[in-house]
Amino acid sequence: MKAVIPAAGFGTRFLPLTKAQPKEMLPVVNKPTIQWVVEEAVDAGIKDIAIITGKHKQAIENHFKPIEKLEIALEKAGKLDELKEIRQINNLANIEFIIQEEQKGLGHAILCAEEFVENSPFAVLLGDTICTGNPNCTKGLVNMFKERQTSVFSVEKIKAEETIRYGVISGQEVEKDVMLVDDLVEKPSINEAPSLLGIQGRYVFTPELFEHQKNVVKGAGGELQLTDAMRSLAKKGKMFSWTFSGKRYDIGTMRDWFQSHLELSFNSDYSQILKEVIGKL
Ligand code: G1P
Repeated sequence: MKAVIPAAGFGTRFLPLTKAQPKEMLPVVNKPTIQWVVEEAVDAGIKDIAIITGKHKQAIENHFKPIEKLEIALEKAGKLDELKEIRQINNLANIEFIIQEEQKGLGHAILCAEEFVENSPFAVLLGDTICTGNPNCTKGLVNMFKERQTSVFSVEKIKAEETIRYGVISGQEVEKDVMLVDDLVEKPSINEAPSLLGIQGRYVFTPELFEHQKNVVKGAGGELQLTDAMRSLAKKGKMFSWTFSGKRYDIGTMRDWFQSHLELSFNSDYSQILKEVIGKL
């Protein structure tokens, strides 16, 4: 299975941080957000990845491709651990970069990957969202896809005042944490929301999604929405949601960004430093 990581938006909700710096390159502990996302896909067994990006986001490509001058400099300076680490990033996965010429929305970004996906099932991981847990969210969805052979995606319980930030779904519970989806609405008001289950940004789709995406017209925010294509696909056949019990951080909100940095530091080589800093506050 291949994976598609959309990372082409302007990050307008997180300005001025994202004026020159892609949101997906914001650091969480010791690496940029998008590296966490690529590692999640790799951990789920996926090595062929397309990152959908924009011309204004060259830093993302630079992060994953070899930079010869830097490698030579590190070698000369005897900084072999650093050299090993950056080479590991270069070799993490087979990453292709696809430029989305115009920012027309998440659904349009996914359409840019149609040729790359080649008529096979594929995973989608939003490039500004970190998920942790065991199994990781994408791995859980890949397993669920193998079992059910139809499109699946993860959701979480959200608060009433948050519906306007999420795709919100409804359906019938078929087993614990799994629902047969019957409706999906992108960023509804609380009155229009079919439930309080929000789409998290992790999906595995059958390639039929593309045909539905092509017929979608501008939706919430005047954009071509992925949720609208999913709604159309769900009306045609079965689609399941999985309520993910791990952690999800939306690195487009200050709260989640701070929280991810703190919580993920606790499980890293930097936990001691963090404890010392917090202890001094
Ligand atoms: C996107 C999706 C939405 C989903 C959300 C999760 O919205 O369109 O359905 O719930 O990600 O973060 P965005 O955050 O890009 O506006």
